Order: sequence, then structure tokens, then C-alpha cells
Amino acid sequence: MLVGVLAAAVFLVGPILASAAYPGGGKGQLSAQDIGEEWAERPVALVTGSTGGMGREIAWRLHELGYHVIVHGRSAQRGLALVDEILEAGGSATFHAADFTSLDQVRSLAMTVVAGYDRLDILVNNAGIGSAEDGMEWTDDGLEPVFQVNYLSHFLLTELLLPRLRAAPEARIVNVASLAQAPLVFDDEEPWWKEPEEEEIDPEEQESADTPTATDRGTEPESPQEPADGDEGVGEEDEARIGLPYARSKLAQILHAFDLAEELEGTSIQVNALHPATFMDTYMVERAGIEPQATVEEGADAVMQLLTGEVGSGGYFNQMEPAEAHEQAYDREARRQLRELSRHLAGLDP
Ligand SMILES: NC(=O)c1ccc[n+]([C@@H]2O[C@H](COP(=O)([O-])OP(=O)(O)OC[C@H]3O[C@@H](n4cnc5c(N)ncnc54)[C@H](OP(=O)(O)O)[C@@H]3O)[C@@H](O)[C@H]2O)c1
Repeated sequence: MLVGVLAAAVFLVGPILASAAYPGGGKGQLSAQDIGEEWAERPVALVTGSTGGMGREIAWRLHELGYHVIVHGRSAQRGLALVDEILEAGGSATFHAADFTSLDQVRSLAMTVVAGYDRLDILVNNAGIGSAEDGMEWTDDGLEPVFQVNYLSHFLLTELLLPRLRAAPEARIVNVASLAQAPLVFDDEEPWWKEPEEEEIDPEEQESADTPTATDRGTEPESPQEPADGDEGVGEEDEARIGLPYARSKLAQILHAFDLAEELEGTSIQVNALHPATFMDTYMVERAGIEPQATVEEGADAVMQLLTGEVGSGGYFNQMEPAEAHEQAYDREARRQLRELSRHLAGLDP
């Protein structure tokens, strides 16, 4: 198994893993056959972004419930360290690296999961960034990075894994969204989601295009529209730091969950979205310079309820309680537009 994991990880991240020592020492003794037999007797869960933050806590809890956990993130070092801990505790886990700023790496991750497992019982679409990494204005796919990492990559991953989710006796998908929600404007004249093509730039505006402002990139500190149930504890200053791309990507995840729940009605797959907790003690919050107000344990409680509780499908939760999302999530036409745009951008058939 370890060979397989390492091969997959090397294939996906190459240099990252090559420079990261496998921290488990003796844990490398388990053979492919050992794990192969072990995971087959367990339900299987994939938690994206489980190398740190709330995703790590969710992965650990799923391990405690007896799941084989597929750990994902970019950091092979942190991913393999978690796998190591789970194996040491008598559980079963594998790590697969994929950078969600690359649709190719998402496809590779999906191929690895489809090839390695005959079913998937849980998919937690959790990996996320608050803002693009310094210096990254557009991804190599020519897309807005926050939209791609938080939403589009998960849309593609979910589509590619649906056959395996359908093969599970009862499957659950959870989209980890947020209270920060801003409506998506599908205006082809101003496609905020993709890098402008050269000919689209008005020569008269060339100067300003050469030095993009926060507003050009859609990162102006515009207040995301509050969902109906409000967000106590988020001050205006904090809200401004959240940013429009993040809020847009998070609402997109909710539209996706609602759309998918409708599509999967009558199947054994339940899909929900949630705001896990406000400003947990994670890297994302630390990087935004915001004082933590909650713990990853609180956020994980809310996610676990959607993974194990009697919650139905097609809902949005504010932590533990059913809540109302931004009104656009209930707009079927908006959901259709997002679905068509996403399929196009992700290179899926219409
Ligand atoms: N923190 C909060 O208060 C809060 C509130 C509401 C919603 N949320 C949502 O909760 C989820 C988890 O957030 P968190 O606070 O736990 O964040 P975090 O601690 O920063 O963890 C983010 C995870 O995503 C992975 N990740 C980041 N960029 C990636 C990329 N380009 N490709 C693949 N994986 C990537 C990271 O792993 P690597 O570094 O290994 O890639 C890490 O495992 C996010 O979706 C976030 O929007 C958080």
C-alpha cells in the first residue's frame, strides 16, 4: 500500500514528496496487501484538505468511527504524518496529494480513488483558501484561484467520483461552505472567473490592466451579503478581510450542494452544505490576521452531524442548525447557469 501511496503522491506532487521524509519510520512495514484487505472491510471516506485545520480533525474522527480515511492536501509531510498516526492507532488510511489550483491534479486524484476503491461512502469537500497565494493572480488553468480551489475543483472531483459514491450502500457528501456568501454574476462581458484574453483588453485601459487593482480582481473588501440567519460575532473589519472571491466561492458550493441533492433525489446519496463555525483556530484564519473565535472541534461537530445524523439531503446548516442560505441558492436558474459554466470550465461534456 505504502508503495502505492508514495507512487500516487510522487505522481501528483513530485518535488514536494521527494523533499519530504516519510515521518513514520517503521510504519512503512505494511504491505499493499495488508491495507488492501483492511480497507475493503471498512467504509471509505475522502476528506479534502485533511492535512491540517478542521479537515484533519474530521479525518481523525472518521478513523475513530472505523472508516478507511483517504487523506488529501498538498503537503505530503503533513498528510503522511496523519496517515502514520491513524495506522499507529490501528486504523487504515492513505494519503493522496493534489493541488486544487490544477484541474489536472484533481483529475489524477479522482482517477487514483476510482482505481483504488470500489466504493466511496463519504466525501467531504473541505479544502479551502481564504485568498489566493501571494503572486497568484490566475491559475495555470486561467481561472480565478479561490473559485477554482474552493469550488470548481470540488465540483469536478464530485462529478468524477459519483460512480463510486453511487456504489456505496449509503453515501454522504458534505460541502464545507461558510456564512460568507456573495452572489455569482454570470456576465460573459465581465467574466470574473477567468483570465482575460489579450484581445479582450481595451488598449485604452491597457495601463490599468497592467497594474490590476483589488477591484479588477474582484478582491475589493466588499461586504458579502449576509445570509438570512445573520452572523453574530463577525465584525465589519473581519468581514472586509474575508473578501469577495471567497464569499462567491462559498455560495457556489452551496448552489452545488442543492443542485446535486436534487439530481440525486431517490438515490442513497445525501448531500448537504454548512457553515461549520466562525473563525476557527486554523491556518486560514491566522493568515487573514483574524483572532480565532472557535475551535476546529466545534466545526468538526457540525460536519460530523451531517455525516452521521438524520439530516436529510439538500440542506444548508449554520453549524448544528438548519438555516437559510443566501437567496441565490434557491434560484434554480442561477444553479443551472453555475452548473453549465462549471461543466464547461472543468472540461466535462455538456
Ligand atoms: N476557519 C474558519 O473559521 C472557517 C469558517 C467557515 C468555513 N471554513 C471552511 O472550512 C474549510 C477548512 O478550513 P480551515 O480553516 O480548516 O483551513 P486550513 O486550516 O487553512 O486548512 C485548509 C486545508 O486545505 C488544504 N489546501 C489549501 N490549499 C489547497 C490547494 N491549493 N490544493 C489542495 N488542498 C489545499 C490544506 O492543505 P495543504 O496545505 O496540505 O494543501 C489544508 O489541509 C474551508 O473550506 C473553509 O473555507 C472555515
